Amino acid sequence: MVGTAPYLPTSRVFEWEPLARHTTLGLGGPADLYIEVGSPEDLKRILLFAAERELPLFLLGNGSNVAFSDEGFRGIVIRLGGAFQWVQIEPPQLQAGAGMPLPRVLREAANAGLSGLEPLVGVPGTVGGALVTNAGTRKGSIGDAVRQVHCLDRVGTRRVLDAAEAGFRYRGSLLGELVVVGAKFELQPAPTAEIEQRMAELQAQRRKAQPANDMSAGCVFRNPPGAAAGRLLDELGFKGRRVGGAMVSEKHANFVLNDGSATRQDFDDLIAAMRAAVRENHGYELELEVLRVGPFGPE
Ligand code: EPU
Repeated sequence: MVGTAPYLPTSRVFEWEPLARHTTLGLGGPADLYIEVGSPEDLKRILLFAAERELPLFLLGNGSNVAFSDEGFRGIVIRLGGAFQWVQIEPPQLQAGAGMPLPRVLREAANAGLSGLEPLVGVPGTVGGALVTNAGTRKGSIGDAVRQVHCLDRVGTRRVLDAAEAGFRYRGSLLGELVVVGAKFELQPAPTAEIEQRMAELQAQRRKAQPANDMSAGCVFRNPPGAAAGRLLDELGFKGRRVGGAMVSEKHANFVLNDGSATRQDFDDLIAAMRAAVRENHGYELELEVLRVGPFGPE
């Protein structure tokens, strides 16, 4: 057990908090401590507290790409609150705090006549989570527009990385070891109406192709080079395939939905079957895009 939390004057601390409530997939038992961090000072206190005691620490963004364990998390789960939710614009640059939801950043960029983030339309994550996973779509990823990433290391020391140091790659980066607190994006001036038009088109395409209202964590697998995991799984007949409360979406075969009763085991068994079928029929070893987190950290 983690024990009593440190003194955190600006944060909200929850003991034994069910993580299923904080993820879009709706999986996860309780975290020993779940903390909504209210200020950079508190964030530093938490990082030091965890480092001194060697406690597992997990930084949650929007919770839209994570599958926690049914046992929960034997450490501290933190989420960056209000003090990390800001946007500051100095054209053609835009800076945002890591806790800021991406859809709000896209809105602000469009209003300010700044183009470059439109490919991220419909991605539900926070700025921080999107950066760590280099979230994106077929039209581009967040890393493409990054100028600088502002981070703390695990003992609270500030670091500023440029885009190359952040090591962006397809659905990944080198930022996972750090705590992202904000970023600066380099955008291009464009008429707001044009940006809005582009976002509306991309949003409509996404609505057609992907489930929107069900509990899911987006695409389960990364696309293998030159192929689409969704297409391969669709051709293998996985749409509608079910294990317990976990089911492959009827709309897009790379999405697994939770009908509200799924356990992590259901999810794991279903994705193992998907992986095995693609391996046997196509020779690809599908890599997970969704992060599976066990009681002590990512698995
Ligand atoms: N397809 C099928 N059946 C399906 C799903 C897809 O035949 O059930 C076909 C489509 O018709 C299309 C191809 O597979 O020809 C690719 O599908 P889609 O355009 O939907 O894109 P995707 O490669 O499956 C990627 C990202 C999505 C992102 C979309 C839109 C990955 C793993 N996925 O999906 O990202 O929203 O492009 O740009 O890179 C996510 O990261 O969670 C995510 C959903």
